[in-house]
Amino acid sequence: MGWVATPELVAASSNAGAFGFLALATCGPEEAIEMIEKTLTLTDQPFGINFHMFQPGADQIVATVIKHRIKAVSYSRSPVAEYIQEFKKHGVICMPTVGALKHAIKAEELGADALVIQGSEGGGHTGSTPTTLLLSSVLQKVNIPVIAAGGFRDGSGLAAALAWGADGIAMGTRFMMTQESPVPSQTKESYISAGIDDIKITKKFDGLPHRLIFNDYIKKIDHSNPFTLLWISIGSAIKYKQLTQSSYKDLIKAFFAMLKGDDLTISQSVMSANSPAIIQKAMVEGFPEEGAMPSGQVAGIITNLPACEDLVLEIMSDFDQACSKLEGIRR
Ligand SMILES: Cc1cc2nc3c(=O)[nH]c(=O)nc-3n(C[C@H](O)[C@H](O)[C@H](O)COP(=O)(O)O)c2cc1C
Repeated sequence: MGWVATPELVAASSNAGAFGFLALATCGPEEAIEMIEKTLTLTDQPFGINFHMFQPGADQIVATVIKHRIKAVSYSRSPVAEYIQEFKKHGVICMPTVGALKHAIKAEELGADALVIQGSEGGGHTGSTPTTLLLSSVLQKVNIPVIAAGGFRDGSGLAAALAWGADGIAMGTRFMMTQESPVPSQTKESYISAGIDDIKITKKFDGLPHRLIFNDYIKKIDHSNPFTLLWISIGSAIKYKQLTQSSYKDLIKAFFAMLKGDDLTISQSVMSANSPAIIQKAMVEGFPEEGAMPSGQVAGIITNLPACEDLVLEIMSDFDQACSKLEGIRR
């Protein structure tokens, strides 16, 4: 989770008995290496990293993961076969996240050791198949462990996923809504007050299906026609330029790369180039109404911000209760 799964949150999760994944897809190689090394100082428990194999400096990130014997890597779009082979050679577990059956099959062919399948309920970029259906369809076709993600928050969800055939669950939104999460408190409050129906998917934000809280800013984007969208996008691009001190040349370069690479419309390309700044507005700077808040629908039924340790203990105690209840039903 870009700007959310920091060394502090990852270490707190792993120290509590979960398995944290450090978010490196939104930083350059030097910052990524610093974050890995910082996490190693905060926990002696295993953790993983999430990155894009196509991001600038991916070579350096791969080398650092291997050097520090990081336990697992998570990735999604455009996997690189050579990196996967390199990781496997050094015993790093390759655990991509997929949102569709065809991507699950492809990921296994490319050498994944396990899969995280993210159903459409899940936060951030997401697919269109609900978790339960995606899980069942993937389980019929692959022979590696499958972790279910999208819509989980507690131990009864864990019990349900295991009963459904999963080997575990992954949670993004639930761990973002914790004490150790770096998200500013006013933004966390927006997550607490969002209802299930306020958290929807739009393709207009950055050209890919993205599940977000529909605040006034995202509603405006979602209802815009292509011309208004282009106008909003240009305004955001100018703000992004000021914020990041980029040159117009950098903006134009990013714009053409998006237009060429991802088959996006002109306004989506402009928006896509500056979506990081819009997400940071809410997630880093603490202006939830002026920015974008990626979120799983599960935020609509989360009402608290526990410490990671309490959260994991509660999940395990709920899990035990759910199993006892099922045992009772079976007898
Ligand atoms: C704020 C936020 C940012 C995310 N960023 C990423 C990311 O950078 N890379 C990634 O693979 N998944 C990302 N995800 C997806 C999560 O890793 C996870 O698969 C998802 O949150 C699971 O669904 P849930 O939100 O219902 O728990 C993000 C999710 C959220 C809520």
